[in-house]
Amino acid sequence: MKKIVLLICAVFVVSSLSLMALDRKKGNVDNGKKIFKEQCKTCHNGKDAKKLTPAHKTRAQWKRYLKNNGKKLFRKHEKANVKLNLNEKDINDLWSFCYVGALDSEKPQTCD
Ligand code: HEC
Repeated sequence: MKKIVLLICAVFVVSSLSLMALDRKKGNVDNGKKIFKEQCKTCHNGKDAKKLTPAHKTRAQWKRYLKNNGKKLFRKHEKANVKLNLNEKDINDLWSFCYVGALDSEKPQTCD
């Protein structure tokens, strides 16, 4: 009996983890671009914060910022007293856009 309960718990934990996992195939590139333009570029323009576009970082770097539901991205901004307004879907959309436009992609995106 105990084993079955443990097994059910394990299945539950694994499936909830995969729900939170970063998945660029679930993201929408166009919407990611829109979010980047509207919510990131407004500050990251070289005046209010340093200039930043998908092409400024590699896929691996973007992944590090965006995984675990954007944990590192939120942490960086909390330090700068910036509150980001992104839900789980937005994070996946951003990840899709940054993935196709990263420094080491075929077509780095400058978002202009
Ligand atoms: C209200 C202004 C503001 C907005 C909006 C904003 N940022 Fe930032 N961001 C900052 C500041 C300030 C820092 C810390 C100082 C710096 O790196 O310029 C920062 C840091 C970062 C860093 C770390 C930079 C590095 O190289 O260490 C990344 C990556 C980043 N932001 C991405 C984003 C993304 C993606 C968005 C959109 C979802 C976004 N930011 C929205 C102000 C902003």
